[in-house]
Amino acid sequence: MVRIVIRTLPLLLFLSILLSACKPMVLEPVPDWAYPTNPPPPPGAPAAVSQGPFQIANSKRSFTRAELTNLFAAPDWRPEDHPAMPEVVAHGRQPDVRACGYCHLPTGNGRPENARLAGLPVDYFVAQMNAFRDGSRKSHVGGRAPTTNMSNTAKAMRDDEILAAARYFAALPPASFVRVVEQSMIPKSKIAGWLFRFDRNGGLEPLGQRIIEGPEDFEQFELRDPATPYIAYVPEGSIALGKRLAETWGENKTLECSSCHGPGYRGKENVPNIAGRSPTSIVRQLYDFRSSARRGAKSSEMDKVVRDMMNSDMLALAAYLASLTP
Ligand code: HEC
Ligand code: HEC
Repeated sequence: MVRIVIRTLPLLLFLSILLSACKPMVLEPVPDWAYPTNPPPPPGAPAAVSQGPFQIANSKRSFTRAELTNLFAAPDWRPEDHPAMPEVVAHGRQPDVRACGYCHLPTGNGRPENARLAGLPVDYFVAQMNAFRDGSRKSHVGGRAPTTNMSNTAKAMRDDEILAAARYFAALPPASFVRVVEQSMIPKSKIAGWLFRFDRNGGLEPLGQRIIEGPEDFEQFELRDPATPYIAYVPEGSIALGKRLAETWGENKTLECSSCHGPGYRGKENVPNIAGRSPTSIVRQLYDFRSSARRGAKSSEMDKVVRDMMNSDMLALAAYLASLTP
């Protein structure tokens, strides 16, 4: 009996290794915390809100609420902080090309619910626009307004507008406004504005295995101040774990992130800078590659990276990358 077991042991071992190598790793359920979706407005007449005009620190300008919600005119609080915007970035083109600077901000640093465009290589930028245009780049969670608006905008754009926007954003310096904080008990929050709104007087709740990201000051966020600071609570230990994963990913470190994303993950040739980006937007991109919702000219490069990636790996990688200087 013992002899049979000893003889068949290597065979069994070999078979189980073979099986695990062939078996594709299952896609884990979507991490909902990375795709927060605004609840529908409460029934009845909308609550009365101030129509402004509003002001912010370090700006002489003022905007009314109507101006702050007009997707065809990017509120430009500090024009001295960036070069003149091309028409498509400042105003878009009615009826379907919404102003890029409205969502991504005139500085191109974006907000957690969209993406940072500052410093992206022109070729990468154009390739992404084409992928949104032909429908190959989607969000795994269909129907979320930020991505739907982005796709509809891209579909209505002309090539010359795409190039003008790509050149404008490529020339801007990327900056990060997110503070990554490891903490197990965090302020309670509600979904608002496609991210989380912390309730500083609402007590604490356990973070668990999530990243909860939101503005430090929700009013400042709503005024679209490009200097709005964000806070991202991440589980304890995740920054160090993410660093280790980033530096050792793939068999024999073959897919280590900096091999393609460059030193400091600040981008290389046509591969985007992933340092100091919003951590929830990083998780959405990794999960969208993993679920095949995000396709594009070069997405096959990322396919092999994410093939065996678990949600916990994405979380740790995002916590680490977001903590870096872009
Ligand atoms: C309504 C808000 C909104 C507007 C307006 C908007 N975008 Fe976006 N954009 C988004 C969102 C959201 C994403 C992330 C989509 C995703 O990955 O699900 C995005 C992503 C992108 C990306 C991909 C960035 C990356 O890192 O891969 C590019 C490029 C881009 N936008 C360009 C533009 C341009 C050019 C315009 C103006 C013509 C524009 N956007 C207008 C919301 C917007
Ligand atoms: C073999 C090269 C390669 C390696 C290794 C690699 N990447 Fe990428 N990555 C790319 C390319 C190319 C793209 C752009 C894909 C496209 O065009 O759709 C990309 C895109 C991304 C994006 C989306 C960025 C954006 O602007 O939306 C994220 C996030 C990302 N990679 C994270 C990582 C992480 C984390 C690692 C390491 C675990 C990694 N990558 C390793 C090549 C690579």
